[in-house]
Amino acid sequence: MLDEGKGAAVLMALHPDIAAVLAGDSEGCIVTGDCLAPGFLLDMPDACVDAVVSDIPYGVVNRDSGGLRNLDKGIADEETFAVDEIAGQSWRLAQSVYVFCGTEQVSELRACLVVLGMTTRLCLWEKSNPSPMNGERLWLSSVEACVFGRSPNAYFAERCAGPVWRGPIARNQMHRTQKPLWLMSRLVSASVPAGGIVLDFCAGSGTTCVAAKKLGRRWIGIEIDEKYAKIARHRVAGTPRPLFPEPTKGKEPVSSLF
Ligand SMILES: C[S@@+](CC[C@H](N)C(=O)[O-])C[C@H]1O[C@@H](n2cnc3c(N)ncnc32)[C@H](O)[C@@H]1O
Repeated sequence: MLDEGKGAAVLMALHPDIAAVLAGDSEGCIVTGDCLAPGFLLDMPDACVDAVVSDIPYGVVNRDSGGLRNLDKGIADEETFAVDEIAGQSWRLAQSVYVFCGTEQVSELRACLVVLGMTTRLCLWEKSNPSPMNGERLWLSSVEACVFGRSPNAYFAERCAGPVWRGPIARNQMHRTQKPLWLMSRLVSASVPAGGIVLDFCAGSGTTCVAAKKLGRRWIGIEIDEKYAKIARHRVAGTPRPLFPEPTKGKEPVSSLF
């Protein structure tokens, strides 16, 4: 059940799909819109999801880089919000927060989460098959940063694991900055108990949501670009649920408390 409040009323009126996931009436949804517009993050109740796993626009890859060849990631990489606002909402909504971001965004994100009382780590995805572009002139661009934040009672299923996650880039990408499924699956599995909810407010082609369905978790994806939201819904629809649901490891999903 959702709390009876102004936010809940706005959420139910504008985005009943999200309200249904929070109320336990739906396993997941992917909605189109700006995550900071009314009826999205700002109107979701406190602590209503287990984890945020998101990959925000880095806002840097299209800039001029001294004559070297550069990748054009298009508008999918344009910053559309202030990092501190996203950090504040993530902390309010979830016990565990993972935000993939550009290196310039790392310090600001970490500082915000620390001020709010989270314990943070800088995590890295090390690409095992990086692009060789400009490799004859400088070190390859083969790592991406992810800021992790944890509130005191967060669920965590890994044991003594380091924060460098090594593995390949996804093949057959449907989004210019698509994350691999193995990576998002590992984070969902680590920080969302079976049946719990993961929120990705920059869903892109829906990799986090696909991981959630595959693992028997629930998902809320928000994506500003309808073209990508459609791709994400299509990918999720083609993803099978697990044959044997996983038992919860001693902790209930926060969403079951509503
Ligand atoms: C780095 S990409 C995410 C890619 C995704 N991890 C995947 O595997 O496909 C960031 C996405 O955030 C979306 N986006 C940017 N600003 C947004 C906003 N204010 N609200 C919702 N989505 C936004 C972009 O359209 C883009 O698809």
